[in-house]
Amino acid sequence: MGKRKLIIGNWKMNFSVKQAVNFANKLAKKTIPKGVGVIIAPHLLALSEIATNSLKDSKIKVAAQNAYDKDEGAFTGEVSMPMLRGLAKYVLVGHSERRHIIGETNSLIRDKVASAVRSGITPILCVGEKLAEHESRYVNQVIAEQLEVGLSNLTGEEIAQTIIAYEPVWAVGTGKYATTEDVERIIKKIRSEISSLYGGEVGQSVRVLYGGSVLAENANQFLQTPGVDGLLVGGASLTIEKFWPIVMAAEDKTKQAEKKDVRKK
Ligand code: PGA
Repeated sequence: MGKRKLIIGNWKMNFSVKQAVNFANKLAKKTIPKGVGVIIAPHLLALSEIATNSLKDSKIKVAAQNAYDKDEGAFTGEVSMPMLRGLAKYVLVGHSERRHIIGETNSLIRDKVASAVRSGITPILCVGEKLAEHESRYVNQVIAEQLEVGLSNLTGEEIAQTIIAYEPVWAVGTGKYATTEDVERIIKKIRSEISSLYGGEVGQSVRVLYGGSVLAENANQFLQTPGVDGLLVGGASLTIEKFWPIVMAAEDKTKQAEKKDVRKK
């Protein structure tokens, strides 16, 4: 059986607490199709209320957008992975906005990934190249380094449970998106890089998503691209009208894959 597609809505720094909770309450009323995992990442002020109340009885899971790599102590303004325990099942790590606006390095990202795993939270490690790297064909090296360093404190078994999101930096929030040929090629590269370091089984088990200007209008093409296990959605996750058709497109793809499986038997 194929893997269930994952659709992750990254709300970024949007909504007041009240707006975020109202939105989550609306989502909680939706029936989640069987073949899709839906995850939302609200800002930290709203996360606790959404996790313990709005989505308590929903199949929609909660992700944090970020957390620090240290467990506790004198780190003003930070929130640790252990603090997210029982609230967030997932955490985004190394999102391009954190890498390139906040200045997070591969080694900090590595420590955050390890801290998440130690705390029982699944990291969603974001990787991707900047426009200049894309144009100068450095994509493979950049992504290989992000993966090699980012995952280096985990065992193969732990990596098989993590999620990788391929998000070309130039496609995030810009309305531009990668071609399906590029997405297929780079995701293949991601799996082969992980396979060469940790074995083929790990490379195949790890879930890899595409993100970068995903909309209901282009979701299908990425969902049917070989190797893509789901989508990380920013702007289009901010309204039900834009987000839900993406969830339903993923359900269709899972159903089609199941039908193919049955025919093969
Ligand atoms: P976007 O954001 O869909 O608005 O491009 C994607 C992301 O930041 O994960």
